[in-house]
Amino acid sequence: MPIRKLHIQHIRNLADVHFDPSPRINILHGANGSGKTSLLEGIHFLGLTRSFRTSQLRHLVRSGDESCLVFAQVEALPGGALQPLGVERRLDGEVRMRHAGQSIELAQLAQLLPLQVIDSDTFLLLEGSPSIRRQFIDWGVFHSDRAFIQLWRGFRRVLKQRNSLLKCGKIDPRLRRIWDREFVAFAEQITQLREQYIELLKPDFEATLGRLLGGVAVELRFSPGWDRKTPLDQLLEDGLARDLKQGFTGVGPQRADLKLRADGHNAAERLSRGQKKLVVSALKLAQGALFYRLNNRPCIYLIDDLPSELDERHSRLLCQFLEETSNQCFITCVDPAALDGIWRPDTAVSRFRVEAGAISPAD
Ligand SMILES: Nc1ncnc2c1ncn2[C@@H]1O[C@H](COP(=O)(O)OP(=O)(O)OP(=O)(O)O)[C@@H](O)[C@H]1O
Ligand SMILES: [Mg+2]
Repeated sequence: MPIRKLHIQHIRNLADVHFDPSPRINILHGANGSGKTSLLEGIHFLGLTRSFRTSQLRHLVRSGDESCLVFAQVEALPGGALQPLGVERRLDGEVRMRHAGQSIELAQLAQLLPLQVIDSDTFLLLEGSPSIRRQFIDWGVFHSDRAFIQLWRGFRRVLKQRNSLLKCGKIDPRLRRIWDREFVAFAEQITQLREQYIELLKPDFEATLGRLLGGVAVELRFSPGWDRKTPLDQLLEDGLARDLKQGFTGVGPQRADLKLRADGHNAAERLSRGQKKLVVSALKLAQGALFYRLNNRPCIYLIDDLPSELDERHSRLLCQFLEETSNQCFITCVDPAALDGIWRPDTAVSRFRVEAGAISPAD
């Protein structure tokens, strides 16, 4: 659902900013500290009610303000009528999400605006904890299977319950078996969806990586969170003493991971910074390509400081790839010349200058 009009209020250094983005490529350039990342934060807030950099709302809300608001007109169908979409959050906890005149829930909002972020923290997808890679997988599963969100919520509830029983130390074996049965049922279904998704993603990832970083082969391998040679109920039973000691459940989908290997080695150890950025970009672009095939609509890409870590040739390759998709892209950079002369004349590219928290068209 491309964003056609955007109004951001009280996000970081942005007091009150309006602009009309292109449905395709938007380049936002400006000096350090001008507000480029803040603009991307505004769009992320519109899609997920939160920042992509901080978990604390008070860091997202402009100093001295009590709330932040992002309001947009979005295209429900390509070239179709515009619909209003707005999100507001107050520091006192109140959250309002509205689409086309109706209040909506977070899962509906996330479905409306499928967002992908590529920024300096992107490396964490390779270098960070498994939870970051689980989030990556679950983004894809959430957007490809409507049943996933209910399964995921159900699983979280059972896991929480099981863990709180473990923390108490004494569990009635009959009660535990009931929880374990539910745990296993959710675990099998979630894992099957995750596994299917990664299998679907692999060809897109290989094709994208081949274009962005020819000559470097990266293998994706899904790890479900337990050794599947043994049934999960058996592993829960066998691991009970350990689980009781540590106060949480040691096996299951909450331990799933995605292993990335380059030339047979852990990709996080093996690859250079620029190569890592391209591998993560290929993963996220592959998700967008698969999303498009499954849902017949594009994603929104927020790419903060695209040229950083990349040489000119690889910056160009990444831009050319973005140009060939139908995603809406918001790309920031300090020096606009770094992304000049790349785009075909028929691509709808809009350039904006960001200066001290204000935005203006640059051409
Ligand atoms: N909660 C806040 N309230 C007010 N200003 C803030 C808040 N959080 C950050 N800022 C300020 O907003 C300004 C813009 O930050 P932003 O990260 O958007 O800059 P940028 O244009 O992306 O810069 P760079 O090129 O260095 O990445 C900075 O001066 C920053 O200190
Ligand atoms: Mg920035």
